[in-house]
Amino acid sequence: MRSSEPIGIFDSGIGGTSIFKEIHALLPHENTIYLADSKNAPYGNKSKSKIIELSIKNTELLLEKNCKLIVVACNTATTNAISYLRATYDIPLIGIEPAIKPAALNTKTKAIGILATKGTLSSELFHKTTDLYSQGINVIEQVGEGIVQLIEDGKTDSNAMKSLLNEYLKPMLKADIDYLVLGCTHYPYLIPMLLKMLPKHVKIIDSGLAVAKQTKNILEQNNILNTTNKKPDHIFYSNGNVTVLKNIVDKKFTVKALDF
Ligand code: DGL
Repeated sequence: MRSSEPIGIFDSGIGGTSIFKEIHALLPHENTIYLADSKNAPYGNKSKSKIIELSIKNTELLLEKNCKLIVVACNTATTNAISYLRATYDIPLIGIEPAIKPAALNTKTKAIGILATKGTLSSELFHKTTDLYSQGINVIEQVGEGIVQLIEDGKTDSNAMKSLLNEYLKPMLKADIDYLVLGCTHYPYLIPMLLKMLPKHVKIIDSGLAVAKQTKNILEQNNILNTTNKKPDHIFYSNGNVTVLKNIVDKKFTVKALDF
């Protein structure tokens, strides 16, 4: 495997660009290829077998494009499909899961909120992690029904979003949470709105930086950090609305329509 080959990143749509941004900030010399499977978004309400099938499709396309490592930049795909992918493909795979551990270890009110998709909250992997860290802590789980679709439609900053979040935060605030865990890679784009809606003492956490650090570790361990001096390429493919993807990434990157 050549170290100059790209890192492959996929998500059910444009949300995983929040993870791309963390990876790019930490590893600016790496080439990347991003797949936004927006045509099939949201994954959150699909069955485990369908999520595995879509994850295989995305992984195989990234392998065809010679990726040296794949980041599953989707909590729903990670919690439902990563063990299958790891057992099937001989390539380093990095996943993302809701950051329950830091929230549970640091909460003072002993109450934390988790906003994620139905697919993530109902997964075995999520239950295992929650059971491990949530002893004596009130974990308020909330399915973010409808949020991913609004973001995919370019309506992140809308009244419809505000009323959804209002409804979803209510039980969490009632339980006096002091940590809100964003368990979906689309949700970091809600942070500006959430900051206006949440009391000052509530901290918002996500797993983006941890994923970027883990990506760096695994590249180092496998001796595949890109060491060439060539300016890196960043290509974003979407099988859905290309304009929405263009609006969310830096103008200097290449965004292309691709049917996959
Ligand atoms: N970005 C995906 C995640 O992290 C969204 C899932 C969906 O498409 O419902 O879970």
